[in-house]
Amino acid sequence: MTSVNDIRSTFLDYFAEHGHEKLASSPLVPRNDPTLMFTNAGMVQFKNVFTGLEKRPYSRATTSQKCVRAGGKHNDLDNVGFTARHLTFFEMLGNFSFGDYFKEQAIELAWTLVTKEFGLDRNKLLVTVYHTDDEAADYWKKIAGFSDDRIIRIPTSDNFWTMGDTGPCGPCSEIFIDRGEHIWGGPPGSPEEDGDRFLEFWNLVFMQYEQTPEGGQDPLPRPSIDTGMGLERMASILQGVESVFETDLFKHLIDAAASAVRKSPTSETVASYRVIADHLRSMAFLIAEGVLPANEGRGYVLRRIMRRAMRHATLLGTNEPTIHKLVPTLVREMGQAYPELVHGEAMIAETVRLEEERFLKTLSRGLQILEDETAGLADGDTLGGDTAFKLYDTYGFPLDLTQDALRGRGIGVDQGGFDAAMARQKAEARKNWTGSGEAATSAVWFSVLDRVGATEFLGYESEESDGAVTALVREGAEVEALGEGEEGFVVLNQTPFYAESGGQVGDTGTMSGEDASAVVLETTKQAGGVFAHRVRVTGGRLEKGAPLTLAVDRARRTAIRANHSATHLLHEALREVLGSHVAQKGSMVGPDRLRFDFSHTKPLSDDELAEVERLANGIVLQNGPVETRLMAVDDAVAAGAMALFGEKYGEEVRVVSMGTALEGEKAGKTYSMELCGGTHVRRTGEIGLVRVVQETSVASGVRRVEALTADGARAYFAEQEAQLRAVASALKVSPRDALARVEALVEERRTLERQLADARQKMAMGGGANENGAAAETIEGVQFLGRVVEGLQPKDLRGLVDQGKKQIGSGIVTIVGLTEDGKAGIAVGVTEDLTARFSAVDLVRAGSEALGGKGGGGRPDMAQAGGPDAGKADEAVAAVKAMLAS
Ligand code: ALA
Repeated sequence: MTSVNDIRSTFLDYFAEHGHEKLASSPLVPRNDPTLMFTNAGMVQFKNVFTGLEKRPYSRATTSQKCVRAGGKHNDLDNVGFTARHLTFFEMLGNFSFGDYFKEQAIELAWTLVTKEFGLDRNKLLVTVYHTDDEAADYWKKIAGFSDDRIIRIPTSDNFWTMGDTGPCGPCSEIFIDRGEHIWGGPPGSPEEDGDRFLEFWNLVFMQYEQTPEGGQDPLPRPSIDTGMGLERMASILQGVESVFETDLFKHLIDAAASAVRKSPTSETVASYRVIADHLRSMAFLIAEGVLPANEGRGYVLRRIMRRAMRHATLLGTNEPTIHKLVPTLVREMGQAYPELVHGEAMIAETVRLEEERFLKTLSRGLQILEDETAGLADGDTLGGDTAFKLYDTYGFPLDLTQDALRGRGIGVDQGGFDAAMARQKAEARKNWTGSGEAATSAVWFSVLDRVGATEFLGYESEESDGAVTALVREGAEVEALGEGEEGFVVLNQTPFYAESGGQVGDTGTMSGEDASAVVLETTKQAGGVFAHRVRVTGGRLEKGAPLTLAVDRARRTAIRANHSATHLLHEALREVLGSHVAQKGSMVGPDRLRFDFSHTKPLSDDELAEVERLANGIVLQNGPVETRLMAVDDAVAAGAMALFGEKYGEEVRVVSMGTALEGEKAGKTYSMELCGGTHVRRTGEIGLVRVVQETSVASGVRRVEALTADGARAYFAEQEAQLRAVASALKVSPRDALARVEALVEERRTLERQLADARQKMAMGGGANENGAAAETIEGVQFLGRVVEGLQPKDLRGLVDQGKKQIGSGIVTIVGLTEDGKAGIAVGVTEDLTARFSAVDLVRAGSEALGGKGGGGRPDMAQAGGPDAGKADEAVAAVKAMLAS
């Protein structure tokens, strides 16, 4: 059996033998295209090479590229599980010619590989060409010896490939295999073409145009070739199985799913297993690259994939988190080819489990609603858009999940209604995706890169150097000079200014020459290698070609260095304290503070934070040298360097090491080792001190620590101390005694408050006592005790009323209490012997009305109410009294 690994290497070796440069897969989240959601084809990493913006030292390349087609132009999400060939995640094998060979050689190379290397039976093969592409048809006749009936002309976009709404495009020719009459389906272009009998496995694109944002097509500088073969499809052909899901890799994933749900697939349930196996791959690879489930953008596509898989798991009868249990099997199957899976395993499983727990909370309720709402619907009916939106909004059902759930019963969803509701909610999120403006400005930087090459960075070793101006850019276009007062970008042949990347902010400083001086406001990296210094000319005229002296703001850079090195120490210390699932999710290293985001699900306890600080500061105190080495990526990772996968690394990478571990598993070994292009202190002692000042959550499963070092930490402690001194001086004690003094004051205040309340009560109830000790008057033969007491809380009223009742033995007690903030409460008590004649509830209402309040409640012997009008306290007492006389 030809394994997936064999097929991949046969393909790559074959093209390498034919002069193609073997290159690694680029990340799923494209780095060179703000318009594309996910890498959806092998050509994505070469987009700018096709259009001529970027030059490479080779004109032929071959890759096996990770692809996700689950959003945007190429979206196979809905088909997965229901056909034998669609996947959301797959590997695309490709060969590329950048203005080198074209149609004839592309067809010849493909034909030889397919029939000789892979040994496919030529009689089972047929091809499509774009309907007007006579040239391609003729080559197929000549090279493959095909008759016209085996060369199908397709007039639709199926045979005109475009990457997205913009980008390189051209007519294409696809190669199909007839898998035999026993499978349903017809040849391409026939009404039965959607069936699985004729399987397309390789697309040869004759890249000739660039689709412009305005809808036009500009010719490419030189015709090129881009091809894509589905690795999983080729595996199904060579392994003699009818569907990609029966290839060895998928079989293992499906077996793992079956054991997790404790049921084997049947013809009825197999689609669910397939969805789970496919979606598992997509989610794991995306999470490994740092995409997390979210409600917009890429994170939302990921969430849709995850939730769809989860619903299918519940269809198989499980109601507990299940998908995350399959992660180890996937890592076993694919981890060798994709080490990011191995490194991210704990994080991937944790992210999936959390999302499962979150969604399972609403899933069954949502499914119940879906069932209720569709109970009366039949095949061909439509579910209202409002219900679909409610399921989306309240129960977390992405639209395609609802559609998927109803598909089996032939019920559609009113997408217009759903979209209308959704549009309002999503308007904000969409804003982030369009009009980034990057596309327009990138052209000028690629042309600068092309002419002057990448900028040489001298700033690891020095903060001052000379440099010659090689390009000036103002408002998106190259200019010859910048005049006094003008702002623009300066490019030099070399620079000590660090350009913002890897979380470290760019440098600022000055540049000056014989004829001009300028301040550098910020430094960024453009087109992958051009250092763009944004400057304001403060004197003279800055001209192209001029030699300048470049000086980085040293104090600022020194602070940045300390913060960056401290970030590495915190990273390692967090892993040590919290566990190896801690992975960097982002960082911001500035002069005044550092921010470090990492995967972890709970807030850190005070003890954990203290331990992290203790460990990091232990390395600071070692004051060991910080060493930087250049290594090949593989060697660096093998040596144990922490890498943020999904980052684009060059051939060689810088590996920064610092400290010696004194405790734990790594005792005696290097403490921190990371792939990093940033600038660092020379010895850890320069960090001075690491102080974490804040720990927060930034997204689900992602925590953030903010910390200060060196002068920033010193200033922080100085301020804390100044505050303590101010407190101590206000208390008239030494700072050391301040806490005891505050505690004593708090206790004293408590005692005084208690005493004050007692005194007030006594005063209220005492004075002018009758024979029972209370100052009561008699109205119509009933004793009445009425009092207004200041500084009394409503909760204290009842106690006073009870006390009054005891004092008079028989009668009615009314207490109005006034709080310090000017509100009034009233309580009325009626002794037992009088409750037949008087109700405390009626009496309190009369009093409360006088206070501008309403209502009041209680029992016949005790009732309470309130009112806003504290100034009417005496009237309230009088109002109750008046009730006795009436
Ligand atoms: N870019 C072409 C495709 O994806 C090869 O089909």
